[in-house]
This record gives sequence, C-alpha cells and structure tokens, in this order.
Amino acid sequence: MQRQTFHDVLIIGSGAAGLGLALRLADHARVALLSKGPLPEGATLYAQGGISVVLDEHDSLNSHIGDTLAAGAGLCDEKVVAYCVEQARSGIQWLIDKGVPFTRGADTNGGSDYHLTREGGHSHRRIIHAADATGRAVEKTLEQQAREHPGIDIFEYHLAIDLITGRKLGLDHDRCIGAYVLDLEAQSVHTFSARMVALATGGAGKVYLYTSNPDVATGDGIAMAWRAGCRVANMEFIQFHPTCLYHPRAKSFLITEAVRGEGGRLLLPDGEPFMTRFDPRGELAPRDIVARAIDHEMKRLGAECVYLDISHKPAAFIAEHFPNVHARCLEFGFDMTREPIPVVPAAHYLCGGVMTDLHGRTDIPGLYAIGEMACTGLHGANRIASNSLLECLVFAHAAYEDMLENLPQAEAPGDIPPWDESQVTDSDEEVVVSHNWNELRHFMWDYVGIVRTDKRLQRALRRSELLKQEIEDYYGNFRVTNDLIELRNLALVAELIIRSAMARKESRGLHYTLDYPQRDDRRPARNTVLTPANYRPSPAMAPRRTRNLRKLS
Ligand code: FAD
Ligand code: SIN
Repeated sequence: MQRQTFHDVLIIGSGAAGLGLALRLADHARVALLSKGPLPEGATLYAQGGISVVLDEHDSLNSHIGDTLAAGAGLCDEKVVAYCVEQARSGIQWLIDKGVPFTRGADTNGGSDYHLTREGGHSHRRIIHAADATGRAVEKTLEQQAREHPGIDIFEYHLAIDLITGRKLGLDHDRCIGAYVLDLEAQSVHTFSARMVALATGGAGKVYLYTSNPDVATGDGIAMAWRAGCRVANMEFIQFHPTCLYHPRAKSFLITEAVRGEGGRLLLPDGEPFMTRFDPRGELAPRDIVARAIDHEMKRLGAECVYLDISHKPAAFIAEHFPNVHARCLEFGFDMTREPIPVVPAAHYLCGGVMTDLHGRTDIPGLYAIGEMACTGLHGANRIASNSLLECLVFAHAAYEDMLENLPQAEAPGDIPPWDESQVTDSDEEVVVSHNWNELRHFMWDYVGIVRTDKRLQRALRRSELLKQEIEDYYGNFRVTNDLIELRNLALVAELIIRSAMARKESRGLHYTLDYPQRDDRRPARNTVLTPANYRPSPAMAPRRTRNLRKLS
C-alpha cells in the first residue's frame, strides 16, 4: 500500500547534520527524519578523533582559520572558513548542553575544562573528543533526544529514491516539495511531501573498494540533488585516510589520527621510520601527504601494508586514550600497547559535493544540503582532521535559522502523483547488480585513487559510462531494490568524481596526478563546478522503457 505523508520539513539523513537540524527545528515545525538503516548508522557513529574548536588559551581563531586555509590549498571560501571557526564554540556548547560527554582530564591543555588532542594539519591542540569514540557519543546523545521529541517523526529503514520538484511534475515552479521513499521493510514506495527538504545523507566512500565509511555512504543525496538539477563542486577531492587497520576481517577499521597526534610513528615493514623523508612535519603532516607517502612506500617495496607504532607509550596511557581502538585491535590479534599494528590507506571523506551557500541552500528553492554531502567551501582541496563534524554542526544551525525565517512563506504542496510501478517487473538477474557494484568499486580504486593519470581516468570514464547505461536500463525495467538504488547513485557519483578529476589539469590538495604533478599557480585557483544541464545523457544512454517516474526525472 502506498502512503502520502506531509510534514513541514523532510530531513533525509540522521547523522550529526540531520539530527542537529531536526532537534533545532522540532520546537517550531513538524519534522520527518529519515534514515535508510537504523537511525544511528552513518559515518557520525564511527567518528573517532573529535571536533576541532579553539579552546586552548594559546590557540586562536586566526590560527584555526590559517590551518584550514593552508590545507585547502587555495580553494577554501575564506568567508565560510571564518564563519565555521567562529561558530565552533557555540556548536560545541550546544552539544555539551545536550549532554555529550566530552573527555575532561588532568592533562587538560591551555586552561580549558576539556582534554584537547592533536591531529594532522592543526598547529595547536584543538580537538575536543569523547575518548576515541567521539561520534558515538554525539550520535547516541542526539538520537535519544530525537526519539523523545514529540515534534519529530522518525522513519528508519526508509530509503529516499528521488526528490520531487515542481519542475519534474510540470508545475509552474521549481521548488523541492518532497521525495519518493522506499520503505525497506514493507518493500513499497511512499510519497513524503513537505514545505522544505533537507538532504543530510553523508558521503560516498562506498564508491571505492577500500573505505573507512559505513555501508550507507553511497552518495545518495548527491545523486538525487544532481538529478533534480543542483550543481556539484570539487568532487575530485577525495580524502584517503592514511591509517586503516590492515586485516581481511577488519573492513577498513579506522585507526584515529590522534594516535599519531599522541606520538604514534609510521614504520616500514623492516621497522624504519619514513615520514620525515616526505615532510618535515612527519606523522603530523596533512593526510594527503601521509597517505601518498604510504602509497609510495608500499608500491616501492611491494609491501601489503606499513605499521603504526605507539607501543613506546605507557600501556595505561594507550588504554585510557584509545580504549575503542585498543579493544578492536585486540579482537584481530594485535596488541598496540606492545607492538606496531599493520595499516593501509582507505577512502575516507568527500570534500566536494552539492554546492550550497552560507545557509545550506542549494540551487533548488526549498532544498538544503548539509553535512558531508555538501560543498560549502570550508574544506577547499583538502580537509584537516575534525573539521567535518564541525561543519555538520555549524551548517545544521545555519540551515535551521534560514528555514525558520522562510517556513511561514513556504506553501504546503498539494497532491503529488504516486510512484508508478505499472510498467516494471521483479528483477530476473540480481547478478547484474552485484557484478556492477564490484566492478565499479574496483576500477575506482585502481584508476581514480590516491595517484591518478589521464590514461587511468579515461579508462575509468569509459567503464563508468558503460555501467551507467546498463544500470539505467535495468532501473527502467525492474522494481527498485535497496541495492539497485544505491548502485545507480554510486555509478553517477563515480562519474562526477571522474569528470571532475579529468577537468583538473594540475595536482592540488587531495587530487594528485602524475601527468601534472605540480600545482598550477599561473592563474587563480578555481573550483571544479559541474552543472547537470551540461551532462544530459545521449539518446544511446537513455533507458529503453520508462514508467511515470522516469518521465518525472
Ligand atoms: P552521516 O553521519 O554519514 O549520516 C548519513 C545519514 O544519511 C544516515 O542516517 C543514513 O542512513 C542517511 N541516508 C543516506 N542515504 C539515504 C537515503 N537515500 N535515504 C534515507 N537516508 C539516507 N570527522 C570529524 O570531524 N572528526 C572525526 O573524528 C571523524 N572521524 C571519522 C571516522 C570515520 C571512521 C569516518 C568514516 C568518518 C570520520 N569523520 C570524522 C568524518 C565525519 O564522521 C563525517 O563527515 C560526518 O559524520 C558526516 O555526518 P553526516 O551527518 O553528514 O552524515
Ligand atoms: C580520525 O580520528 O583520524 C578521523 C578524524 C577525521 O576524519 O576528521
């Protein structure tokens, strides 16, 4: 049975960004909050290191701004950087007021009540954290409050398929007025209509074979926004985290950068330290440099991994600061208090995304994008550690203020045509979906990874176009499933990453290509902006059969 539900605001995604917005709005508006898995499942839950904020009396806002701009390699929006850094304290205070148990400590730094740790690219101790499981503390605290708030209707296991806009319905406006959503338990598609819609669907790490991201990170929000007509920017800037645990069953478990912040050293298999050969800042150089150095050494030596060693620190210190990482490593047979642990880089964070302004507004009226899926201008060509949860907090607040001001003028949408499945059948060959998932993630890892070349990118583009054609064909003929929807989105996001990488004829920040190994400083640095209208599929790529929704999108 199909349902149509109406709310003032539809929020798609329940990580730090989505929950942050929902809890702020819910005192003023009726909110629907969607997650495609259990509510807490998302990158936020797994965030380890912490959140950057200037609390140390020796630190300064200017220093935080300077570090962010330096990592961003000329592509940060300085207004946005200043705004986020200035708003950090009130964002953290909001979390403290909500009850997030940040670590206090005897070795507290610089007059703050809280322990501050160090991470790469930051020139001061600036990371507030809850031991080594900061994201869990944030997510669980906010989850509980959202569940108790009468103004929030929670829909878990609800997967948004596509946005509904006036343009798609042939109306005389282009507002975003809702989304078609697959209820994964009932296996039916419902219409969620709203005065305003916010996308907070997180990143797209699953586009790569190896990633620190959870399974929900399939770039759905970016793909939906693109199909609805939003521009995306800087999709080539994928951050590879240098240190994920190397073990076949560890599924790229992250070893927080704070381990290096507290003195952890990177070693080659023969025990030789190597980072200072690549950067005088050694283990605390920004992540792109550390990840490339590891990649270089692994390729040079034919090694499967390098090692991270903090065993020179007292065991009690390690157990106190890294209880989660320590316990997880033990599960895999590595005792970090006594020995180096094997690590490899993995795709971790997407700096680009849907373009937004300082209020989180996208190109489509009534549609906001916040959190990792947005490109606000904060990170530029590279994000420094712990600036991402900060961005979620700050932009949840900014979007809230803007929505509150504009909600009274936003009309409730009328009836929306239901999702039409009259021309599709159940899939007869699921293998197409699983095969294409694997193929996509393999070629993205091999050809669009830490080190790129023109040839590799061209190969990747050819494969991605073919895959997209097959997937669209399949999508046009068969009933939607979770895997099919995610694969369709991943294929589109992969193409956006490849095309953006091809457009950048230089190496800058996280984008490194052997064909143009230098940064091009002959002209001002420019964002890579892709516009949907310039990438309509060629007739050969169009699906063979359409159903009503295909006509709408
Ligand atoms: P997420 O927390 O990823 O939430 C996404 C939400 O969207 C989920 O609820 C999901 O169900 C929902 N969703 C997605 N698609 C759909 C759909 N189609 N329909 C319905 N719902 C959907 N950053 C820091 O600043 N500090 C750190 O210490 C840190 N550590 C990290 C450690 C790890 C292992 C990882 C993976 C990331 C880390 N990051 C860290 C990055 C940071 O955690 C993320 O950028 C941030 O949490 C993203 O929050 P978000 O709210 O945008 O998305
Ligand atoms: C980490 O703890 O190393 C991750 C921090 C981040 O991604 O910001």
